[in-house]
Amino acid sequence: MSTDYITAATVGEIAPGKMKRVVANGEAILLANVEGEHYAVSDICTHEDASLYLGCLKGKRVQCSLHSGMFDVTTGEAVEEPAEIALKTYPVRINGDKVEVGVSDKGEQPA
Ligand code: FES
Repeated sequence: MSTDYITAATVGEIAPGKMKRVVANGEAILLANVEGEHYAVSDICTHEDASLYLGCLKGKRVQCSLHSGMFDVTTGEAVEEPAEIALKTYPVRINGDKVEVGVSDKGEQPA
């Protein structure tokens, strides 16, 4: 299985502390800029499927708007209940002025 990289944003588009939601390969992905570094995780909260884009980014943590669960966007780890299951993470690379996110060609978890 190979990983395809899709252009999800331009580097200047997502300021530090901001997020962007994109849909690629049928998956909703949350891009987050944490102090200049770009990260990508699933946009869907593992608690009850709320969009994390509607939540709030605080440092490297995104807080779900529905029940205030929290995830570390740099690792996907659930760090505050009621969220318990980690988010899927996606590889991110910068290519010129583009932020590219790696999605598998079969819609499966990239290795
Ligand atoms: S849906 Fe996100 S914490 Fe409940």
